[in-house]
Amino acid sequence: MTIYLNGQYMPVEHAKVSVLDRGFIFGDGVYEVIPVYSRRAFRLEEHLLRLQHSLDGIRLPNPHSIAGWTDIVTELIARHEPEDQYLYLHITRGVARRDHPFPDPAVPPTVFVMSSPLLPPAQQLLDDGVCAITAQDNRWLRCDIKAISLLPNVLLRQMAVDAGCSETVLIRDNEFMTEGSASNIFVVKDGMLLAPPKDHLMLPGITYDVILEIAAAHSIPYQVRKIGVAELFTADELFLSSSTREVQAITHLDGNPVGGARPGPVYQKIYALYQDFKRDVMRAQ
Ligand code: PDD
Repeated sequence: MTIYLNGQYMPVEHAKVSVLDRGFIFGDGVYEVIPVYSRRAFRLEEHLLRLQHSLDGIRLPNPHSIAGWTDIVTELIARHEPEDQYLYLHITRGVARRDHPFPDPAVPPTVFVMSSPLLPPAQQLLDDGVCAITAQDNRWLRCDIKAISLLPNVLLRQMAVDAGCSETVLIRDNEFMTEGSASNIFVVKDGMLLAPPKDHLMLPGITYDVILEIAAAHSIPYQVRKIGVAELFTADELFLSSSTREVQAITHLDGNPVGGARPGPVYQKIYALYQDFKRDVMRAQ
């Protein structure tokens, strides 16, 4: 596996980062995950805009222009066999003596990019759906920043795994649902698709955008608005989305069936349209 680190391509075994890197010491950095279908990075510009938003959020200058990032991404895709991959981009505030404020003068950022094979979700997950639990959203108030400091997300996701489930649905202030520990969450009630608003309390998912575009294009009624806890627990359908997990129905929540405990009709329609979109748009950009 070849990775990109600070201007060079090298085998992952040769890649070394200082123990004083602020990513290692403070989790002081941001990242992106970009799906690649048929060797084409999906919505590269949108991902790079979201990266810019994250960098702006932590006041770290972007080390590359869009053209610069495009060159790295293109080279890394070419160096890997799979037709479908996902790219992980990671930028930290660099290596400096351990001290909380930004290094002054600034030091070069650490820039790391890797590619992994992108596999479709297992058929059984698609047929049966997955189970999820709920937990209080105890993350900070800038969840729109794709920060590498993911400790709350890691602990929240592990709670799901410990319960034999695959996702934790997060509830903020006992009032409304925000997202999953590593995915966006959609609710269906009385045929209406509900999506939480893209604000500072959730990551603005690129797959989330695709789902709402699909809904608009195929006259699936939807609303973007806050989703109260009561609506979450009485949903007819629930599903999650992410670049690496596509769309997956949540058929049990906290051990209780969601709707008929099977992937529901709105999910199935969106799943089928998402597969069409992958074939006709993502693979043919
Ligand atoms: N995570 N919300 C959170 C907290 C996430 O971590 C992710 C994705 C999403 C979905 O975003 P997108 O549709 O752009 O993948 C929402 C990635 C896949 C990860 O951390 O590996």
